[in-house]
Amino acid sequence: MKISMIVAYGKNWEIGLNNQMLWHISEDFKNFKTITSGHHILMGRKTFESIGKPLPNRTSLVLSNSGFEHEGVHTFNDVQEAFNFARSSGEEELFIIGGANIYESLFPYVDKMYLSEVDFEGEADAYLKEIDFSTWDLQEQKEYHKIKDENGKLLSPAWKFKVWTKKD
Ligand SMILES: NC(=O)c1ccc[n+]([C@@H]2O[C@H](COP(=O)([O-])OP(=O)(O)OC[C@H]3O[C@@H](n4cnc5c(N)ncnc54)[C@H](OP(=O)(O)O)[C@@H]3O)[C@@H](O)[C@H]2O)c1
Repeated sequence: MKISMIVAYGKNWEIGLNNQMLWHISEDFKNFKTITSGHHILMGRKTFESIGKPLPNRTSLVLSNSGFEHEGVHTFNDVQEAFNFARSSGEEELFIIGGANIYESLFPYVDKMYLSEVDFEGEADAYLKEIDFSTWDLQEQKEYHKIKDENGKLLSPAWKFKVWTKKD
């Protein structure tokens, strides 16, 4: 089973504030949905609470040591048990979907990264640890322009989508 990570981060590696996302980019959400649909998604308890419900067409696995439970979600207090659950369900690509704590602790297991680099700089309280790309191969990339409304107000920032696989 391949282990992938999917994350959107700003110019200073910021990923969240007050347990919320820092921007709204509908194309990135659509992309996230397309990529993760039909798969097991693994997240920390705080990220699940930020989303608030199991995401449709995906099997939600939540890591928690505090006895967290929620309908429609499988909770684990051990990472390997979560991996084994997905593997034994026939999963071929498990997605780690955050947050900061989970990205950092599970990074050594990651084989493939789906990264959205967002043209954003601002207040945050959750960050991704800086990634050294020298041990990764870029597989694909696509650029998206910022979107403004008719009054020039920024609706969503520019972003780049990149897919990386770990070098052998
Ligand atoms: N930009 C993005 O792409 C993106 C994606 C996802 C999340 N985020 C942001 O990230 C932030 C949340 O990140 P966070 O670091 O605060 O929280 P988190 O990683 O979502 O969750 C942390 C919690 O997960 C549980 N946990 C972590 N490691 C565990 C382990 N090895 N075994 C069992 N349980 C474990 C613990 O839950 P208990 O306390 O219950 O024990 C811990 O408190 C939010 O701001 C969110 O919006 C951003």
